[in-house]
Amino acid sequence: MPDFDAGTTPADRMRSHAADHHHLYGHLMRGLADDWEAGGPTREIFQGWEAAPEGSVVQLRLLAGLFRIVLTGRAPELVPYYPCLGGIEPPAEAWPRVRDVLVRHTGELHDALDVAPQTNEVGRSTALLVGLFAAVRRTGLSRVRLLEPGASAGLNLLVDQFRFVNPDWEFGPIDSPLMLADGVQGDVSAMAFEVVARRGCDLQPVDATTDEGQLRLRSFVWPFQPQRHERLNAALVVAGRFPITVDRRGAGEWLEEQLSGPVDADVLTVVWQSITRLYWPAEEVKRVEAAVGRAASSAVIAHIAMEYPSEGPSVAAELTLAVSGATPEILATVGDHGTPVALLGA
Ligand SMILES: C[S@@+](CC[C@H](N)C(=O)[O-])C[C@H]1O[C@@H](n2cnc3c(N)ncnc32)[C@H](O)[C@@H]1O
Repeated sequence: MPDFDAGTTPADRMRSHAADHHHLYGHLMRGLADDWEAGGPTREIFQGWEAAPEGSVVQLRLLAGLFRIVLTGRAPELVPYYPCLGGIEPPAEAWPRVRDVLVRHTGELHDALDVAPQTNEVGRSTALLVGLFAAVRRTGLSRVRLLEPGASAGLNLLVDQFRFVNPDWEFGPIDSPLMLADGVQGDVSAMAFEVVARRGCDLQPVDATTDEGQLRLRSFVWPFQPQRHERLNAALVVAGRFPITVDRRGAGEWLEEQLSGPVDADVLTVVWQSITRLYWPAEEVKRVEAAVGRAASSAVIAHIAMEYPSEGPSVAAELTLAVSGATPEILATVGDHGTPVALLGA
C-alpha cells in the first residue's frame, strides 16, 4: 500500500493523466474517472487506494490488470479495441464494454493494484550496442562480461542475439527473431565482440521464460504501441532460447559482489544500465559508482548508461560511457524507448 497523498481524488488524477489524449487509455481513464465519481465498480476497485500518490499511477496498474484479463482470453469482447491484438475499433467506444469487464473482475482488478508498473524495453539495446562498440574500440578488448543492474527480465543482456540493421552497418545473427532497424543517427563503427558472460539483478526480477513473467511484461506495454509489442514478443522468443539469470538484489550490493572476484586479463567487464537510476535512492547511486570505481583499479571496466540527466524524464535520456573510472562521456541522446540514438556531432 502506498503512502497517502490527500487533496485530489482518483478521478482528478485520472483526468489529469488522460489529458486530451484520444488513445485507448485516454478514453478509459476518462471513463474510469466518471465511473469513480458515480460510485460504479471503479470505486470498489480503488478502495483503500483513494489517496495514493500520483507517482504510484494506480490507474496504469488497473489498466495493466485489465490488459492481462484481455491477454488471457477472458474478455474477448475487448480485443477489437486493442491494436496490438489486431483491434481496429474506435477507442472512444470501448468504455461501456470495459465497464462490464470491471464488474465481472472487480476483486482481481483490486489485487492488480499491488503490481507496480514494470517493463523491459529491448529498443534500448540499440543504445547499449552503440556504447559497447565504443568500449570495445577504446579498450581493444573484445571478450565481454556484461553485468546489468536494474535489468527487469534481463532482455537487453541478449544484445548479441538481436539483429541490428542500419544503412551503413549491420550486426547480429541474420536469423534472429528480433530485428531493430535504423535506430542510430550518425556514424557508427561496428566492432566484433563476444559476450563471454552475462548476468543481471533487479529488486523485482521478471522471469521471461514463464507465462506469468511474459504476461506481466506485456501488460505494462501500452496496447496501442504495437511495434513495442512486436519487439517484446520477438525478444521473448530469444529469451526462451538463451535464458538469462537476473538475481533478486539491489544494484549496489549486487555489483559489489559481482565485481569483487578475479577476471581474465583479456575480458572487458561492462556494467550496463538503462532507465533504472531514477528509481534508486541516493545511497544506491553512490554504492554503484564506488563499486565500479574500485573495480577499475584491478580490471578493465566500462560503464555504459542510458539514463536521464539530473533534470529527469522531461529531457532526453543520455547515453554515457566511462572507461576504467574516467569521467563519463556523453555519446548520444536517446529516445525514451531506446531510439533514435542520436550520436553527438551527427
Ligand atoms: C523502467 S525499468 C527499466 C528496466 C530495464 N533496464 C529496461 O531498460 O528495460 C526500471 C527497473 O529498475 C529496477 N530497480 C529499481 N530500483 C532498483 C534498485 N535499487 N536496484 C535494482 N533494481 C532496481 C525496477 O525493479 C525495474 O525493473
